Amino acid sequence: MLNKKLIAAVITLTITGIWTGNAALAGEALKVPAGTITIEGKKPVSFDHQIHLKLGVACGQCHHDAKHQPRTAEAIGALTKGDELQCATCHNDKFAKAELRERKDTFHARCKDCHVAGVNGKKGPTACTACHGKTKKAVEGC
Ligand code: HEC
Ligand code: HEC
Ligand code: HEC
Ligand code: HEC
Repeated sequence: MLNKKLIAAVITLTITGIWTGNAALAGEALKVPAGTITIEGKKPVSFDHQIHLKLGVACGQCHHDAKHQPRTAEAIGALTKGDELQCATCHNDKFAKAELRERKDTFHARCKDCHVAGVNGKKGPTACTACHGKTKKAVEGC
């Protein structure tokens, strides 16, 4: 009898535990993407967070908020929607500074400028194809 009660209590606790877990998941804290992501646009780019984080680059060197304050990993973890990290959420045709409205200007200013300056003596690639890949084949389906 005692054993049955104990088992029931354990099961209840386990189920509650799982439910609490799910409730936490419902908010889905944002974490750094593990693999390669695609930066969408007319000239999409494959971007690998890990290569950059290994250099010791902080999240806030690329991610900032509406006041242009760097976002830490903790601040990013507290967000629930990826949109808030999408550069074009702010950098679009309504952005206050005209020179930071176009995707080309905004991304090149962040990505290419650092590739030229480098990190601890290590430079990044600056050839168009290093970021944008090879141009599409002229004939589809070849
Ligand atoms: C260090 C990486 C990097 C390099 C090097 C680079 N780009 Fe980009 N570029 C990007 C990213 C990221 C975007 C944003 C993706 C997009 O808009 O398609 C972008 C966007 C663009 C766009 C705007 C596309 C749109 O959506 O409006 C053009 C045009 C462009 N690049 C041309 C070039 C050319 C030409 C070169 C070489 C002289 C070059 N890029 C080199 C990263 C790079
Ligand atoms: C070298 C630049 C760079 C660094 C450093 C960086 N990110 Fe990113 N991250 C990006 C870019 C660019 C995107 C894609 C934004 C877009 O598509 O407009 C992105 C996207 C993301 C997304 C996906 C957002 C979505 O659309 O769902 C998450 C989550 C994220 N980053 C978290 C982090 C965290 C956490 C760190 C630090 C540990 C970090 N990033 C460091 C450049 C960077
Ligand atoms: C929540 C809104 C917001 C998001 C999202 C955002 N920015 Fe910004 N960004 C700003 C503001 C505000 C400024 C400051 C503009 C000024 O100086 O008036 C700025 C400035 C910049 C600058 C020029 C100053 C500098 O830091 O060199 C670059 C480049 C830039 N952003 C790139 C990016 C990139 C790349 C992303 C995505 C990884 C991004 N931004 C996401 C709001 C945003
Ligand atoms: C703070 C500096 C810094 C910023 C910002 C940065 N990069 Fe880099 N990136 C580097 C360095 C340094 C390397 C070379 C890494 C190595 O050789 O280990 C690199 C390497 C790369 C590579 C080649 C490795 C690979 O993934 O195949 C690509 C592509 C790239 N970066 C794209 C981007 C794009 C797109 C952005 C903007 C969203 C960006 N980087 C922003 C410093 C930076």
